[in-house]
Amino acid sequence: MRTLFLSILCLILSSCSFEYLTEIDNQDSSAPTAKDCGECHVDQYGEWQQTRHAQAFTSVEFKQQSAYYQDSGCLFCHVPGDVLDPERQPRQYNREEGITCVSCHLHDKAMQGPHESGGLISPHAVARNPMLDSKADSAQLCGTCHHETYEQWLDQQEITNNQYPTCLGCHGAPVKRSHTRGTNLFSRLLVSFEPEHEVRSHLLMLPGQLNPEAAPEVHLTQNQPEQIFFTLTNTLPHNLPTGSFGEKYIMVTARRIKDQTILATNTMSLLSILPPDQSVRLSLSLPLGTLSHTLEIDLKRLHRSTNTATLIRSYHFPAGDHAQTP
Ligand code: HEC
Ligand code: HEC
Ligand code: HEC
Ligand code: HEC
Ligand code: HEC
Repeated sequence: MRTLFLSILCLILSSCSFEYLTEIDNQDSSAPTAKDCGECHVDQYGEWQQTRHAQAFTSVEFKQQSAYYQDSGCLFCHVPGDVLDPERQPRQYNREEGITCVSCHLHDKAMQGPHESGGLISPHAVARNPMLDSKADSAQLCGTCHHETYEQWLDQQEITNNQYPTCLGCHGAPVKRSHTRGTNLFSRLLVSFEPEHEVRSHLLMLPGQLNPEAAPEVHLTQNQPEQIFFTLTNTLPHNLPTGSFGEKYIMVTARRIKDQTILATNTMSLLSILPPDQSVRLSLSLPLGTLSHTLEIDLKRLHRSTNTATLIRSYHFPAGDHAQTP
């Protein structure tokens, strides 16, 4: 909070400016880091740090696949300068930060965001921009890099007459907060003059964790002694799985559960892509004798390169609901 404290002091004394935050040229070695922004935007910084965006330059996979940064075409998206500039260039400074705060926010010497300036103090210029508003055109911003996914989303919006939320509407949790957070008595007092807004978190989530409605659907169709049959329907506005880079799979696991103890488990990976609105019929075998117990089906996103699986959603079928199906 040192910076906020100083900024307040400065503004009271009207003696110094914070131009270093907005007046950056691409060779600047003293350009503000995400951590500098985080001195005031404590929550946004903490969220961003946990995203893949923050690792877009330093990840082992990117290093290897870009031939240790030799392939300069990759840098327009993995270490971008001003994303809002149609002639964007890769950033020369703070490259280890990948897709960082200034990439998305700094344009025309002002911080572009979803709101007009509204606080008591403005250490830097602020401008409202619908491309930085999760309730407006923010999908277009995401689409400057997520080309394929964005095209799929646009197609679905057209078919359904704009029934789907924006990308952040599904991938960012709703939060209510002021832009900055006070961390001592003095800064808290000043922040209390800032209006609160309903916005989306910078933490990018797989939406099933936030809202079951925003996840694909699973329906049991038939149950035989050793096998369960079900359909998986892609209710998303993009492919399942989506993305142009890396090897990505959807993992489906069926589990029989009795008193929270797992009796049997079976997993498979889906190799082929399921486009929006399409279904696939699947089956998994589970041993005899476990039929009359609760069934859980987990849908996970598997990243081969990092060997991590992230839960999209768990589907719960209580014993009584399905045990009798012929
Ligand atoms: C000294 C504290 C401080 C620092 C450092 C700071 N900001 Fe801010 N920021 C603020 C305050 C206060 C506001 C609200 C200003 C207003 O309403 O006029 C704000 C507003 C914003 C907004 C506008 C949000 C909206 O809803 O429209 C964005 C975007 C933003 N800052 C990004 C950044 C970025 C990126 C950095 C780092 C390069 C940064 N800020 C550094 C204090 C700070
Ligand atoms: C400047 C290019 C760029 C922009 C703009 C951008 N992304 Fe990304 N995004 C990437 C890259 C590159 C990755 C992969 C990074 C990696 O895995 O190393 C990524 C990864 C992701 C992921 C996977 C996250 C994870 O943790 O597995 C999601 C979800 C995502 N972006 C959503 C969004 C949304 C929503 C927006 C718009 C608000 C957005 N992105 C804007 C380039 C961008
Ligand atoms: C991939 C692009 C992207 C990156 C990177 C990014 N932001 Fe944002 N930011 C957005 C979008 C889009 C919104 C609008 C969210 C909304 O309307 O709900 C936003 C909103 C904001 C706001 C105003 C709303 C709020 O959450 O209070 C601030 C302040 C802000 N960002 C600061 C930062 C800081 C600081 C960083 C770096 C630590 C950062 N952003 C990184 C895209 C980005
Ligand atoms: C209706 C909710 C919804 C909307 C709207 C949506 N997504 Fe998704 N997205 C999901 C779900 C659920 C998953 C997990 C399944 C998967 O991986 O395909 C996902 C997965 C992803 C992934 C893969 C994440 C990873 O771990 O690698 C990316 C990238 C992504 N979405 C980007 C976007 C972008 C960009 C947009 C806007 C153009 C968008 N999404 C709009 C629900 C949504
Ligand atoms: C147009 C923007 C763009 C360009 C150019 C680009 N990428 Fe990406 N990259 C993305 C986005 C968006 C993601 C995350 C979602 C996806 O897979 O589409 C990503 C994800 C990745 C990932 C993570 C894959 C994983 O396992 O999740 C790697 C590695 C990668 N890119 C390597 C590269 C390399 C190497 C190049 C240059 C040959 C490159 N990218 C060029 C936008 C871009």
